[in-house]
Amino acid sequence: MQNKLKNNKKTEIHAPIVEALKTAYDHPTYQFHIPGHTKGLGTLSDFRNLIGKKALKVDTTDEFDNLGTLNPATGPIKEAQELAAEAFGAKKTFFLLNGSTIGNLAIAMGLTKQGQKVIVNRNCHRSILTGLIISGAEPLWVLPEKFSDWGLWGNIKAEDVEKLLKENDNVSLVWITNPTYEGVVSDVKAIADICKKYDVPLIVDEAHGCLWNFNSKLPETSLNLGADIVVHSLHKTGGSMSQSSMLHISKNSKINAEDVERSLTLLHTTSPSLMLLGSLDASRANLQSSRGQRQLNRAIQNAKYLRSEIDKMEHIHQLKSDFGYKTDVTKIFIKADGLSGKRLESILEIDFGIEVESASDAGVLILSNIGNKRSDFEYLANCLHKIDEHDYKDIYYLENKKHMPMLTPIIKKNLREAYFSPKEIIPKERAVGRLSGEVVAECPPGISILLPGELITEEHMPYLTDYETIEVIKE
Ligand SMILES: Cc1ncc(COP(=O)(O)O)c(C=O)c1O
Repeated sequence: MQNKLKNNKKTEIHAPIVEALKTAYDHPTYQFHIPGHTKGLGTLSDFRNLIGKKALKVDTTDEFDNLGTLNPATGPIKEAQELAAEAFGAKKTFFLLNGSTIGNLAIAMGLTKQGQKVIVNRNCHRSILTGLIISGAEPLWVLPEKFSDWGLWGNIKAEDVEKLLKENDNVSLVWITNPTYEGVVSDVKAIADICKKYDVPLIVDEAHGCLWNFNSKLPETSLNLGADIVVHSLHKTGGSMSQSSMLHISKNSKINAEDVERSLTLLHTTSPSLMLLGSLDASRANLQSSRGQRQLNRAIQNAKYLRSEIDKMEHIHQLKSDFGYKTDVTKIFIKADGLSGKRLESILEIDFGIEVESASDAGVLILSNIGNKRSDFEYLANCLHKIDEHDYKDIYYLENKKHMPMLTPIIKKNLREAYFSPKEIIPKERAVGRLSGEVVAECPPGISILLPGELITEEHMPYLTDYETIEVIKE
């Protein structure tokens, strides 16, 4: 069993929110409170039948039915957060609704302020930038390596972080994304050591790495490598429901957890969904259970199987860790000769009924998930073999549209100042030479193409084919 949970002494899996929801379900009360659908009766019956009566009966918010509260954490919610902290190896864990987005907003709001600088990788998620717009801190961009053949950003180099720390005063945080959306892993230990040397906290947006503490074949979680705060999108790969995430404060961090907690309280909904919170509790408990461990092992085995099949193909290639950097084996980025990623994505979808995680101009991203069966992967491998055998050179075409921005920004105005400057909307054709007034970021993966205050150049045009107009700062 590949369990690397060092702190998991419990043999029995306990999920306090799930158990409290079960008790509430088994002992219904006469309900004169929100949510007004009142256990599902006050909604469209087609909807009730689609998602199930039971699901609506447990759709409740905190404060009722002895379920505890989220802000501040009390009762089963508090206990579930403590169990999560133990499982992920953290000092303190906060459950997040509105995804890792709210975690990033709370970090920026709670730990940075106007006039300070934050070292951040250019390919970060737009929620980090939104956070910096709120706080007024200024990003200092660190540009990761570019894997030009794959149209992807690669790993962040520790020496680039150190150079920025050496050259700048008043840096409040180093904030990196690890792994990248496509699974490229940076040397977090080296970056953490440098942050310690300069006494600057390290935040790691590990949105795509929440499984790492549960299997020794996966990369090491940044919580064990010296990061102060780590954000995990449990809903992405951990098995919880969409929008549910976690924010962890590491055991040795000097960061005041209350600074983050205060911002979370202000930013969070005041009606947290117990279903989403319960799903976080359930996914943590599942990952600790022997069933969850088997599922994760299977996801790794499935990924290895698919990778070995792709190795046999002539025209389909995969991003691998033998190019001098580490990757997460469960994230499989492939490209096919003669096909753009978007074209490959449509062939998979239209001809074979397969939906992948995402596609860029270069390739497509496939996730090997804990919920996938081996037969899913056999089918996928079979379809990829068929595509590989079909010589697509005859229909080779390159789209005008690009999807994964890898541009070096030309910053002309402070992010927050630019965001709040007077703006106008102009046709895209007239935008070159003007300063962007908006955050332009295609989702997934939410990496920005342009930010407020950045100069718009010809290089941006292939990324903006879907835009007729663009918001720019008034001259
Ligand atoms: C690196 C990264 N961080 C944060 C987020 C935001 O996560 P969520 O969708 O959980 O709000 C994403 C979403 O794609 C992401 O890729």
